Amino acid sequence: MTTVGFIGLGTIGQPMALNLARAVPELVVWNRTTTRSEPLRAAGARVAATSAEVFVLAQVVILMLADAAAADQVLDGAHLDGRTVVHMGTISPADSLRLDATVRAGGGAYVEAPVSGSRVPAERGELIAMLAGETDVVENVRPLLAPMCRETHVCGPVPDALTMKLATNIFMLSTVVGLVEAFHFAARNGLDLTTLRAIADSGQMASSISRVKSAKLLDRDFSLQAGAADVLKNIRLMSDAARAAGASGPLTETMHRLLEETVAAGHGTEDFIALLHVLEAPRT
Ligand SMILES: NC(=O)c1ccc[n+]([C@@H]2O[C@H](COP(=O)([O-])OP(=O)(O)OC[C@H]3O[C@@H](n4cnc5c(N)ncnc54)[C@H](OP(=O)(O)O)[C@@H]3O)[C@@H](O)[C@H]2O)c1
Repeated sequence: MTTVGFIGLGTIGQPMALNLARAVPELVVWNRTTTRSEPLRAAGARVAATSAEVFVLAQVVILMLADAAAADQVLDGAHLDGRTVVHMGTISPADSLRLDATVRAGGGAYVEAPVSGSRVPAERGELIAMLAGETDVVENVRPLLAPMCRETHVCGPVPDALTMKLATNIFMLSTVVGLVEAFHFAARNGLDLTTLRAIADSGQMASSISRVKSAKLLDRDFSLQAGAADVLKNIRLMSDAARAAGASGPLTETMHRLLEETVAAGHGTEDFIALLHVLEAPRT
């Protein structure tokens, strides 16, 4: 019987781990801020005292941490021999290659499994995972992701899943940024925003994310679903990866500038549709 470990019980990690707790016989979790582990304890998971203890107890360890620096800290000194590390956070492809080398050097196996989705799809077990790594290890890990993910797509060797995740981010973020600009344009032209929402929600361009964001834009509800600071981190990864591949990225460059202005204006902890404030600010 495989004991599964889960490290990183943040905005998206906590609902993912709760779904896993309901599905696997033995789950051991750890989070730096200990109070965030309590819902997992209540769901029957074992709460480890340290991240190192998770690697002792579990054969497969899922990491859902903020960034690569957090993963470095957790892997530092961890018992990696015979362990499979499943990295689900969004980091740069270069950092993921480095983590892969660290885990292999310690005698373990490494799988990339970044996800598309946010807290609500995570609560519903409806994330989309992109997988990369050695084929046999990826196939072993795949069933484990089923309680958290509606679909899993194998993308190739490390770091192709993370690069794929960045590609899908261009599509998702430009959809939402376009919607924000449409609301701003309509408002400045004196149009009825309720009618704009109805048209946007029913036309060919409607999607689950555009419907969620159009409701928020209509209500000027900037409460957090995907935080502007985290989106800016992801756009930086997209910009760097585009530059490294010699790919043109005009939309990414524009979104990069807009999100930098959004965070600099103090909206980093709000949902990234708060970039509406930047569009509304007087131009100098
Ligand atoms: N939220 C989304 O919609 C979404 C969607 C797709 C992908 N992602 C990606 O998934 C990852 C997690 O996202 P999130 O929204 O859950 O972020 P979050 O709410 O900020 O949670 C980050 C997690 O990392 C932990 N952490 C940060 N620094 C640490 C360190 N030095 N040592 C140990 N633990 C550390 C935090 O622990 P504490 O609780 O102690 O702070 C927390 O558990 C990110 O890479 C993000 O880009 C997020």
